[in-house]
Amino acid sequence: MRPGKKILILGVIIGFIICASRIIFLWWEFSSVYQQEVVTLDPWVRKHWNHVKILTDTLNYMQSTKTILLWTTFFGDPNFVPSYSKLGCLFPKCFVTSNRSHLNQSDALIFHLRDINLKDMPTYRTPHQVWILLHHESPHHTPLDLLKQLDGLFNWTATYRSDSEISLSPTLKKKDKEDTHIDNFVHNKKKMVAWLVSNCKTPSNREGYVLELKKTVPIDIYGSCGTYNCLPKMSDECYDTLNKAYRFYLSFENSICKDYVTEKFFRILSTDMVPVVLGGANYSNIAPPNSYIDALTFKTPRDLGRFLLQVAKDEKKYKSYFAWRKTHRLVSEHYVCQICKKLHQPKIKHSTYLNISNWWFHDANCYFWSHNSKGHA
Ligand SMILES: *[C@@H]1O[C@H](CO)[C@@H](O)[C@H](O)[C@H]1NC(C)=O
Ligand SMILES: *[C@@H]1O[C@H](CO)[C@@H](O)[C@H](O)[C@H]1NC(C)=O
Ligand SMILES: *[C@@H]1O[C@H](CO)[C@@H](O)[C@H](O)[C@H]1NC(C)=O
Ligand SMILES: *[C@@H]1O[C@H](CO)[C@@H](O)[C@H](O)[C@H]1NC(C)=O
Ligand SMILES: *[C@@H]1O[C@H](CO)[C@@H](O)[C@H](O)[C@H]1NC(C)=O
Repeated sequence: MRPGKKILILGVIIGFIICASRIIFLWWEFSSVYQQEVVTLDPWVRKHWNHVKILTDTLNYMQSTKTILLWTTFFGDPNFVPSYSKLGCLFPKCFVTSNRSHLNQSDALIFHLRDINLKDMPTYRTPHQVWILLHHESPHHTPLDLLKQLDGLFNWTATYRSDSEISLSPTLKKKDKEDTHIDNFVHNKKKMVAWLVSNCKTPSNREGYVLELKKTVPIDIYGSCGTYNCLPKMSDECYDTLNKAYRFYLSFENSICKDYVTEKFFRILSTDMVPVVLGGANYSNIAPPNSYIDALTFKTPRDLGRFLLQVAKDEKKYKSYFAWRKTHRLVSEHYVCQICKKLHQPKIKHSTYLNISNWWFHDANCYFWSHNSKGHA
């Protein structure tokens, strides 16, 4: 045989093995679903009939397209999700639309909290339809009166909370293979701490913390609450400029609530500044050790300030805050990809948020920073 032919045959065999293993895996998933189904036929026929049914269902499942309807707009924008093919979701497939004529064929509906109008809700709901509440903000920026009227409507939520079915936060995944070095690492920086901020008075009282921290360590405040400008606003150029000059960046959240962590943290993880965090997330659960410095683990702002000065003087210690890049990488999967994947699971556990304001507000345990102790908001 010629080598070309051998490679071709090998390729066909490998392809066959991959397809077969995929089908067997799905078959196995489905078989546990259909085990309870009673089919009144001759036992021998029933056995084989079941296998055929499982196989056809599996193939149907692999090919089926689920419809996701964007019921509300997103701050007025009706087509707020890019076309499905541009989201970079892996298999399986979904069709995303804002055309309400597809209501009865929709497997899931997305409602953006800020755009919900109670006078404009669907009048018909099919039994298997999943209703999803989308909300990016913290409890401090959530309309309480509206939420109180939404009990018993939603099956899933898409928020930053770790107990939401759909997560809006990127995740730090372990790399399959450890890198041996870190590229393009900027060090030998001259300046200490940068803080880019536009909201000067916040429920977390981060501004009070910074006022204290400034007494120990120099902080350059950019944006409308400070004296420095970083232009164009929020651009990559702006972050690049900060990146070249500063050792640390204050990723301080505007609210201290359970799991509340935003782009302020994730974006800085992709720069060469060390994020100093202040927020309600358990950062040790979402980020690798030594990838950030947590202000709330220090007794006072002064203790944190002293620690930052010490790290800045010690090149080896400073560099250790970037070692995580050898083992982890930042991965963000669009929430529509997650919804699509979940809709294709053969077993969808039924669930409903019966007391959604209690879940959202009470379970969030929000508080604010103060000199003496944590105050409750
Ligand atoms: C919405 O879908 C219906 C049925 O598929 C179609 O007739 C209609 O033209 C669509 N409307 C828009 C605005 O695309
Ligand atoms: C959905 O089905 C219900 C009940 O059959 C029907 O009343 C309603 O008009 C349908 N809605 C759409 C948008 O097709
Ligand atoms: C954060 O999570 C870790 C691991 O799950 C746990 O051991 C630790 O007590 C948590 N910290 C706080 C402040 O809840
Ligand atoms: C979604 O919630 C509704 C309303 O409580 C409920 O009837 C339905 O069974 C739930 N569906 C799923 C898939 O959880
Ligand atoms: C929701 O839970 C809170 C706290 O447990 C309770 O006070 C409230 O009455 C509940 N609301 C409803 C509609 O059950």
